[in-house]
Amino acid sequence: MAKDIEALQKEKRIFEPPAELVENSNVKKWMNEHDIKDYDELLERAKDKEWFWEDAAKELEWFAPWTKVLEWNPPHAKWFVDGKINIVHNALDRHMGTPRENKVAYIWEGELGEVRKLTYRDLYVEVNKFANALKGLGIQKGDRVTIYLPMIPELPIAMLACAKIGAIHSVVFSGFSPHAMMERTKDAEAKVVITVDGFYRRGKLISLKQNADEALRDAPSVKHIIVVKRAGNDVSNGDKDVWWHELVEGQSATAEAEVMDSEDILYILYTSGTTGKPKGIVHVHGGYAVGTYRTLKWVFDLKDEDVWWCAADIGWVTGHSYIVYAPLIAGATSVMYEGAPDYPHPDRLWSMIAKYGVTIFYTSPTAVRMFMKYGEEWPKKHDLSSLRLLGSVGEPINPEAWMWYYEYIGDKRCPIMDTWWQTETGSHMITPLPITPLKPGSTTRQFPGVEADIFDDNGKSLTEKGGHLVIKTPWPSMLRTLYKDPERYEKQYWSRFPDTYLAGDAARKDEDGYFWVQGREDDVLNVAGHRIGTAEVESALVSHPAVAEAAVIGVPHPIKGEEISAFVILRKGREPSDALKDELKRHVAEEIGPIARPASIGFVGDLPKTRSGKIMRRVIKAKAIGAPVGDISTLANPEAVEELDKAV
Ligand code: WTA
Repeated sequence: MAKDIEALQKEKRIFEPPAELVENSNVKKWMNEHDIKDYDELLERAKDKEWFWEDAAKELEWFAPWTKVLEWNPPHAKWFVDGKINIVHNALDRHMGTPRENKVAYIWEGELGEVRKLTYRDLYVEVNKFANALKGLGIQKGDRVTIYLPMIPELPIAMLACAKIGAIHSVVFSGFSPHAMMERTKDAEAKVVITVDGFYRRGKLISLKQNADEALRDAPSVKHIIVVKRAGNDVSNGDKDVWWHELVEGQSATAEAEVMDSEDILYILYTSGTTGKPKGIVHVHGGYAVGTYRTLKWVFDLKDEDVWWCAADIGWVTGHSYIVYAPLIAGATSVMYEGAPDYPHPDRLWSMIAKYGVTIFYTSPTAVRMFMKYGEEWPKKHDLSSLRLLGSVGEPINPEAWMWYYEYIGDKRCPIMDTWWQTETGSHMITPLPITPLKPGSTTRQFPGVEADIFDDNGKSLTEKGGHLVIKTPWPSMLRTLYKDPERYEKQYWSRFPDTYLAGDAARKDEDGYFWVQGREDDVLNVAGHRIGTAEVESALVSHPAVAEAAVIGVPHPIKGEEISAFVILRKGREPSDALKDELKRHVAEEIGPIARPASIGFVGDLPKTRSGKIMRRVIKAKAIGAPVGDISTLANPEAVEELDKAV
């Protein structure tokens, strides 16, 4: 990573977007309509954020208009105050009776190759039936529903059905362990859990329901467990369990969308923070719809004839915003894929791009680096000429991977939209538009209506020097709070600099105002584009009877960006062994999920700590990657540093 950052700092190439793309782009058209002649003027004019976002909001259908665009009582924002809306009315209902009704909303492909196409009408009917089924179970506006499903059509159907009746969904990534799912379910006090009998990953059956059964017994709030039949494997259904297909049978195909206040909660999505407890990020119907919709239309220039593929998992925010809500509001045709990107061969995705004529493709740097390793002979086997734009998200993309993506997937024709944003921001914040000259490795400039900056420790704006990435004004799709934890919301994001949002990333802004994101600056790791809290992994480790203390760091990895390395102090009487290392790795995977499995574990007698007892991960990391340890005068136990030498 140190090498990558150096490479980033030297990067000077500029790639101009093709003139034809610029001229025909949604954003350029809008600029012409508003007499805006260039990019700088666009950003300048959009600083009138009420004007800018109100214009965006007018493209949606509201049941009742807002009386005020923004009410800002830092750190609490209300957007489109008093407006009444339902995001699902915009995503589905309003397309009925228009030519979009019979357009394909999702082309879904299972890992084993089966295909399901759902038109907007099909989706509308499925959502209505399931919404009615949920109501039949007593679910009402404001109730929470945990959705623990893999990438099958029932996942967006369940989310939309909840939102349509005003229930709050909390989707838990299906790669998380049942234990992690249940912790989130308990925090949300969900009444219903929706899951699946089993699904396939790399050809292997994963019996999700069976794995979850034990955890599910342990949540008193849960009254019903709805099970989708996907794999047909054996599941032992208990008295709370009900099959999805039996539940929807005979339900009416129409359902009224609940009239929601603009600020009513749409969903909770848990994400890792600096403590062991995940944060429940709260998004709302109104502003979130406006932010996700406008960014998709502008950043990815989405048009009616496009075939859009956001190859993320809906279990993360990228999938919430850009597989479910924004593309449906825009009336797009999306590809949705169930399985592993390199299964059964490394050209699975390229073959699907050719098969479905995908025009816009959005993935992560980790995926790009993985494909790079497989080699360009795989994409070269397929006709990728339908593509016109590419995207990247989740972690910094190194210029080398950017160039490979640009050359071999985009044929040097397709600009890459490297979009910086977070679960908290709801939609793209620092990102190119189709009109933006690109610099490989830079997420370029802020989206119009967003004010990003780099601050030093004292809140002074920096150019050319690295610092804290901040957002200085509110935006419509911002998180509203942390579920049941408003204090942590204030402390985490708004206490460092007055009335300013602290992103938790380190970044630099160059002389052209281009942003170069370096990575997290808090105790959050980014493994293959997935956020994992060091504290979560540490608490999973110490929950094992052999472990007394643990410290977890991220070490650079050529494909995943970072991988997890753990240092462990064993309890008295426990002996270090390779078998124990394996057991601890397995234990973490069971507690959190396979994505959190440490790549390496070192046994130590002591860990470097400050006098107040705080583990100095910085020192551990320096040792692990062979960098200078720097100032260790605040260490209470300098001898621990030598211990580390032995362990690495
Ligand atoms: C990182 C994912 C560099 C960043 C949408 C951020 C990025 C965290 C980029 C949020 C990018 C996301 N370049 N870093 N284009 N996009 N990140 O909440 O560290 O899963 O804070 O949201 O991913 O991760 P999250």
